[in-house]
Amino acid sequence: MQRLVKRYPVLLALVAQLGAALLIAALIYLAAQLSSWRPTGLAAALLQGLLAASLGRWLGLSRWWWWLNLAFVPALLLASGAALPSWVFLAGFALLLLLNWNSLGERVPLYLTGVRTRQRLAELLARQPAGFRFIDLGCGPGGSLLSLARQFPRAQFVGVETAPLSFAIAWLRALGQANCRIRYENLWRTDLSHFDVAYCFLSPAPMADLWVKALKEMPAGSWLISNSFEVPGVPADQRVELHDWRQSLLLLWRMPGANRSLKSVASDG
Ligand SMILES: C[S@@+](CC[C@H](N)C(=O)[O-])C[C@H]1O[C@@H](n2cnc3c(N)ncnc32)[C@H](O)[C@@H]1O
Repeated sequence: MQRLVKRYPVLLALVAQLGAALLIAALIYLAAQLSSWRPTGLAAALLQGLLAASLGRWLGLSRWWWWLNLAFVPALLLASGAALPSWVFLAGFALLLLLNWNSLGERVPLYLTGVRTRQRLAELLARQPAGFRFIDLGCGPGGSLLSLARQFPRAQFVGVETAPLSFAIAWLRALGQANCRIRYENLWRTDLSHFDVAYCFLSPAPMADLWVKALKEMPAGSWLISNSFEVPGVPADQRVELHDWRQSLLLLWRMPGANRSLKSVASDG
């Protein structure tokens, strides 16, 4: 089950939705047989959402799926009741798809680094020599990256992104910022050997592979910083708790460099 949750959370969410719909349908049928109680459409949808969210949690889906499962059917109902032209739904779908391009393949949806986390990140970056090189692996629409680029004008900032709309927004926003470049590039194809700091805010799914990549490519003394997601089995060298509503956490690993890490692998063996 854990493997299924990790690989295909969207399938489990679907199972939770269908299970909840069946239970609610059975409940309404029973209520109709035994009493005069009839829920309104919205009440039934809310109940279904609550049940789907709880079922999803019970099946092991992570916390943010709780909100998606809760809102899915009520939102469908509200949207279908509104007198909107059909292209609005298509446009909404396209917008979500172009922003969340990496949700299915990479299992990394779009959510943004919070303001407090960004401030803390800036405090950590202030310890770097002035001309440091920073990369945001999956920069989204580029807000955090650009804010940092403005705060550290002598440093170099790069963002890579493959969600088409996020990339386009970030690219346009970075046009006026000389020390910030946005590339339409898959992070797995990005050469990390030129960077002093690699920042990522992804999901649990890619962290083990990202660690292997960072070990191979990042120079000795550089930093890998992950917002909230751990590398399984590799405790961070520093942990910075943000105490926000998301319980954000910055995890910092000081990289040993390819030669050192290969040597230590060899000596471990
Ligand atoms: C959670 S968002 C973080 C956005 C931004 N870094 C921030 O902190 O505000 C993760 C981003 O990574 C992007 N992403 C996921 N996998 C990627 C990949 N293989 N290559 C490039 N971008 C990727 C997603 O499209 C998404 O925009």
